[in-house]
Amino acid sequence: MRAIVFHEYGGAPQLVERPAPTPGPREVLVRVRATSVNPIDWKQVDGTYRPILTARFPFVPGYDLAGEVAALGPGVTEFSVGQRVHTRLSGQAGGANAELVCAGLDVVCAMPEGMDFAQAAGLPLVGLTALQGLRDGCKLPLEGATERVLVIGASGGVGHVAVQLAKAASAHVTGVCSAKNVDLVRRLGADAVVDYTKPDPWRDVAPFDVVLDAVGGSPSQHLPRLSPRGRYASCVPGPAVFLRQALNVFSGRTVAPVLMKPNAKDLAVLDAFVTQRRLEVVIDSTYPPERLADAWARSRSGRAAGKIVIDWS
Ligand SMILES: NC(=O)c1ccc[n+]([C@@H]2O[C@H](COP(=O)([O-])OP(=O)(O)OC[C@H]3O[C@@H](n4cnc5c(N)ncnc54)[C@H](OP(=O)(O)O)[C@@H]3O)[C@@H](O)[C@H]2O)c1
Repeated sequence: MRAIVFHEYGGAPQLVERPAPTPGPREVLVRVRATSVNPIDWKQVDGTYRPILTARFPFVPGYDLAGEVAALGPGVTEFSVGQRVHTRLSGQAGGANAELVCAGLDVVCAMPEGMDFAQAAGLPLVGLTALQGLRDGCKLPLEGATERVLVIGASGGVGHVAVQLAKAASAHVTGVCSAKNVDLVRRLGADAVVDYTKPDPWRDVAPFDVVLDAVGGSPSQHLPRLSPRGRYASCVPGPAVFLRQALNVFSGRTVAPVLMKPNAKDLAVLDAFVTQRRLEVVIDSTYPPERLADAWARSRSGRAAGKIVIDWS
């Protein structure tokens, strides 16, 4: 089978032949049809976050994939060969960008009816982050929400799912994006948009009960935008977020880091939103495996609207 392999930090991707893996107990072997790019993929190979996030070489990058079950590990009865599945692989070992990949039952879900492989590969990591960020980090109820929600980075992978989940929860949603993405963010359900490229974009904007930050500002920047018992969660938490979190007991306003935990239960929650047509995955662009470097360049640009997909079909 073919796989994309890196041999050193900062190295170039190589598409090579490797032996196919064998699924173990509580695993399925997936014939991969699509993977999606997340910033963690290239940050891991760049070595940006060593030693917290290391890469073991030779290293196959990527965490999100969709495909068909090709074989079952010993004792697996929950899936059948040929079934369409998707996952955010567990752990920090990458491994998605190959033709055949083993995935644990704790993180795999059957794909929703009508969803294509590109969208199914695009959903897991960003969807889980948006869901856990809003529900757990910001304590937003998934139904009957009355909160005013601000999503920073509303056109990106995490943000465009967060806008839709907050809207599905009945919250009043404001998305922050640049002028070129205003129509997209409104189409996804935002009630209001802040165009951060405009001069003085925050003038006349009322406080928010919930702020989900998928860009990486600081608590001091965003706490003034919160209502007295408002909740701010950052998907790009630096030391300031952890320090301010320690002070939550002294303040009505709270700060939380979002540290996404892959699991099949939450992916099934997201899949239900897709089935109910309350959540769509926007595709920014699609590349063949041979052009992984170009796909990563697009991701590094920080300008992707929705998800970047690698087509393995
Ligand atoms: N902690 C976790 O568990 C976790 C999980 C997932 C992701 N993350 C992190 O979260 C961040 C976002 O991930 P992602 O996949 O959503 O990234 P992404 O898809 O690459 O985000 C790109 C989007 O960000 C927007 N953007 C850039 N600067 C902005 C700004 N100043 N204000 C508003 N929007 C801005 C861009 O819109 P414009 O072109 O309009 O500027 C673009 O649509 C990354 O740093 C990623 O590593 C963390």
